Amino acid sequence: MKKLIAGNWKMNGNKEDALKLVGSIGAALFVEPELKKSCDILVCPPYLYLPVIKDLCTEQGVLMGAQDCSNHENGAFTGDIAADMITDFGAKYVILGHSERRQHHKESDEMISSKVSAAHKAGLIAIVCVGETEEDRERDKQDAIVKNQLKKALPDSVDQNNTVIAYEPVWAIGTGKTAKPSDVEKMHALVREQLKDQIDGGERIRLLYGGSMKPDNAKELLNTKNVDGGLIGGASLKAEDFIAIASAA
Ligand code: PGA
Repeated sequence: MKKLIAGNWKMNGNKEDALKLVGSIGAALFVEPELKKSCDILVCPPYLYLPVIKDLCTEQGVLMGAQDCSNHENGAFTGDIAADMITDFGAKYVILGHSERRQHHKESDEMISSKVSAAHKAGLIAIVCVGETEEDRERDKQDAIVKNQLKKALPDSVDQNNTVIAYEPVWAIGTGKTAKPSDVEKMHALVREQLKDQIDGGERIRLLYGGSMKPDNAKELLNTKNVDGGLIGGASLKAEDFIAIASAA
């Protein structure tokens, strides 16, 4: 399976930074054109920068995604952004159910499921995030938690072409702590089995690992069984690191 290397910029940078970052990614891809053959490169900036980087991304063969979308098609939802508005700017992907949305915006699996449906209706590929907290892991509850998230957060519209799953242990996000490759292998095997049970074609859905992926641990993580790419936060803000991770894929 072709790997997907996705950068989640979160709420960082300004317009100039966005242009510079994509420019540097493009320059690196120009020097190493074979990278695009081995992996798809995706950047997910804050919404406002999608139109800013659109042309540059198209020229350089870099895919674009958003970090969230509304579960409604349109209407009186002040401050929200509809999935159709995201596709309007050439984005193909949307991250949904990120642990920061679950934590700071109290998003439930049911809410995430309805956002995934809205994304699919608009023709977007949903990157659905699942993962246990530190407390869940201390209580050895990670398997049950992740299975339950998959059962509840994935609507019937999910198939291998419109959905990617990102396993992101919450305690590894932005902390510098990475899950051990043996744990990543176990969790990805569990996710794969659950997807096969739940969805026709579940064996072909891409599974990303996320949580403090860096150039120095990327090779091991990306070569772990059932890891089809990475969702990268901090390290995606530096073109050099982001490209080094893609090179490890
Ligand atoms: P991180 O973030 O790479 O900074 O840990 C990953 C994510 O939040 O998707």
